[in-house]
Amino acid sequence: MKTLLVTGAAGFIGANFVRRALAQRPDWHIIAFDALTYAGNLENLAGFEECGRFEFVHADICDDAAVAEVLARSVWGVINFAAESHVDRSIQGAADFVRTNVLGTQVLLDQSRRHGVPKFLQVSTDEVYGSLGPVGKFTETSPLAPNSPYSASKASADLLVRAYHETHGLPAVITRCSNNYGPYQFPEKVIPLFITNLLEDQPIPLYGDGLNVRDWIHVWDHCDALLAVLERGQPGEIYNIGAGSELTNLLLTHAILRALGKDESMIRHVKDRPAHDRRYAIDAGKISTQLGWSPRIGFEQGLRDTVRWYVENERWWRSIKSGEYRLYYERQYGAV
Ligand code: NAD
Ligand code: TYD
Repeated sequence: MKTLLVTGAAGFIGANFVRRALAQRPDWHIIAFDALTYAGNLENLAGFEECGRFEFVHADICDDAAVAEVLARSVWGVINFAAESHVDRSIQGAADFVRTNVLGTQVLLDQSRRHGVPKFLQVSTDEVYGSLGPVGKFTETSPLAPNSPYSASKASADLLVRAYHETHGLPAVITRCSNNYGPYQFPEKVIPLFITNLLEDQPIPLYGDGLNVRDWIHVWDHCDALLAVLERGQPGEIYNIGAGSELTNLLLTHAILRALGKDESMIRHVKDRPAHDRRYAIDAGKISTQLGWSPRIGFEQGLRDTVRWYVENERWWRSIKSGEYRLYYERQYGAV
């Protein structure tokens, strides 16, 4: 059995990753490690314990002793999803972002080094590269130019990962993925926010002129790329991950409206986000040629399936929007 420590496992991508890893890697034992912030939801991991290869640890990646305790169990790999992940929240206040994304990553790196962890995967984002003009794509050698406190904290973590590889020889890799969508995404991010607002007959707030471009990837394609990097990625390397699905927010909004049979009158044009990155686009050539990964889910199909998931899982998102989901884990773990 290979034991994998998955931090941030109760969030959107972490939970999808654990589900896929348990299904596709029968010799893996997963330790899901999560502080259960507002974005962590134990319901995302419901039922996993039944397979006998899954356990949940309620702890903070900034807690040195808690991280040391799990890594003492001859862990084969660490994959770090734990983060504060929402740009708008980082504009309201950056402290939690620096604490978890930078300090928390340093604690994981230090303890991984001490315990001789053979693989460390830092799940990063294309947002560390900043903003593109109308042409060109981010490659792994594009300069880091983060514009939000969120992306600055992720870029800082990436630099620490690089330094631990260079200085201490920690076998670490970094992935930088574009915008994800799919099941279990917290309804503060644009796709689940718009879908669930429309299902509640509420308006949808489109920032600025709506012409900012994001490069969308289905979360399952991202998770499969992460499996490839964990198993075949070379220490010290960076791998960009993307599916080549660029869309303006306006086109995305129209696609969501169409999928739900709503019209443009639901759009509210609101003030733009400060320092709103204009365009992201990923060149995923390196992971494709070196690791043989490529995306499988086209955006139209992926969006249709995602809309259906939110329609069919109304109880999940309604309990988040009402705040009820917090009671679920407060009952188990006390107030956090
Ligand atoms: P999310 O906000 O849905 O989940 C984050 C998880 O981390 C939550 O379960 C939360 O409880 C946990 N967490 C937060 N602080 C913690 C701490 N101090 N200790 C332990 N756990 C903590 O985020 P997501 O969208 O699933 O993103 C996961 C990772 O992927 C992040 O590192 C993010 O930067 C990166 N990423 C996200 C996207 C995207 O489009 N969502 C794209 C590229 C990269
Ligand atoms: P978001 O889901 O917050 O991801 P990120 O900022 O990490 O790319 O936003 C995606 C795009 O949608 C981004 O250009 C901002 C825009 N957006 C809106 O227009 N309205 C909203 O309510 C939100 C949350 C985002």
